[in-house]
Amino acid sequence: PVRRREVVHLMNKHLPRPAVAILRDLGKVGDELELPVYAVGGFVRDLLLGAENDDIDVSVEGDGILFAEAVATRMGCRVKSHAKFGTAVIVFPDGLKVDVASTRLEYYETPGALPTVERSSLKMDLYRRDFTINTLAVKLNAEGFGTLIDYFGAYRDLREKTIRVLHNLSFVEDPTRVFRAIRFEQRLGFPISRHTENLIKNAVKMGFLDKLGGRRLLNELVLILREREPVKAILRMSGLELLHFIHPDLALTSDTLRVLDEVKKVITWFELLYLGEKVETWVVYFLALTSSLPDEGFWGTCTRLSVSEHYREKLIDMRIQGEQVLEIMARRAGRREGVRCSDIYFWLRGLSPEVLLYIMAKTRSDEVRRYVSLYVTRLRSVVTHITGNDLKVLGIPSGPRYREILDQVLSARLNGEATTREDEMRIVRSLAAPA
Ligand code: CTP
Repeated sequence: PVRRREVVHLMNKHLPRPAVAILRDLGKVGDELELPVYAVGGFVRDLLLGAENDDIDVSVEGDGILFAEAVATRMGCRVKSHAKFGTAVIVFPDGLKVDVASTRLEYYETPGALPTVERSSLKMDLYRRDFTINTLAVKLNAEGFGTLIDYFGAYRDLREKTIRVLHNLSFVEDPTRVFRAIRFEQRLGFPISRHTENLIKNAVKMGFLDKLGGRRLLNELVLILREREPVKAILRMSGLELLHFIHPDLALTSDTLRVLDEVKKVITWFELLYLGEKVETWVVYFLALTSSLPDEGFWGTCTRLSVSEHYREKLIDMRIQGEQVLEIMARRAGRREGVRCSDIYFWLRGLSPEVLLYIMAKTRSDEVRRYVSLYVTRLRSVVTHITGNDLKVLGIPSGPRYREILDQVLSARLNGEATTREDEMRIVRSLAAPA
């Protein structure tokens, strides 16, 4: 249904020029080695959808490692091979990565019928995949560059916008696909087909998801929470009764949903500030999703998900920090006495952006939200003119007193009681003067 010329046109239109050149070069190396080479999977799906995707996946009908090494020698790339799986990653000098897989021709070889074996070999590789929309391949060899290969009705499903498995045992073979289905459904806006949804419900009912290891479950959850619209995916997980596989007490209460919706808003707000600061958005969503659980439940969730000890401590710290500061701020915001900028600064100092955003999402007080916003946009970057060195010059003996004095000077600056270096020095002298 899609002609070669159209595929090449889509490549030129949607891919950066170096990427197109690389695809052609991969085909040429394939020609030299007489190996059929294809771009496959999500890369082709996104190409046809006109969506961005920097992960180029390539399947080689034959020895993919040999192919990858040949590419590396000819094109000056690094290559990392996994002989056991017949896979390799090629890293180009500009950072672009290409994942190479072998369709392991030898397994399907029948003497005397090489071409059909080659074709069916790619076909077998594609048949093992999760959803029809991920089973497209594009030929990269010079002869036929851009030819779309569609064994399983993928193009039709892309047009019909549907997520469909290839066979009824797909979720039994690999239960992580349940979460992948939801992720694609939300990201692409393609509903899961009715039959596929029934298979998911069946897999849930039969307890196949109990067998899913913590690491793999965590991986899928993180991928979902890193998407642009995780809240819809969480709603879907809740509807399909998947949340209790993460923790038996995990449920989407109206308050959890409120916090999750707020997370979306505060992340958008934060991104629009263009501070150039990286935020692990999934962490903020994770804290929000688990915010109604008591501490044991939170701990249990981390254990179920096999979160590493180091990271678990980090997450628990974030949660505790958030709760503590929320409590202090709510108490103070409720009183009539004025809250000073320095108060806000010292409540929030040192908290990661993830915790700050979690606090903003969790609070029900507009006042508290304003505090955090003021901190993020202004207070956080305030510094004093003077440094410890100035204290030394004044002959103040070094020790913990330095921190106290510098913090007091900073307070004065934050509250507008000091603007110039002279103002600050005056404060230092008054503080350092013998009582
Ligand atoms: N795959 C699968 N079953 C899984 C994971 C992956 O069948 N549990 C297949 C999919 O068909 C996918 C390919 O392996 O196309 C590569 O996986 P991945 O890179 O995770 O998928 P993408 O489709 O590229 O997804 P994304 O856009 O999120 O990277």
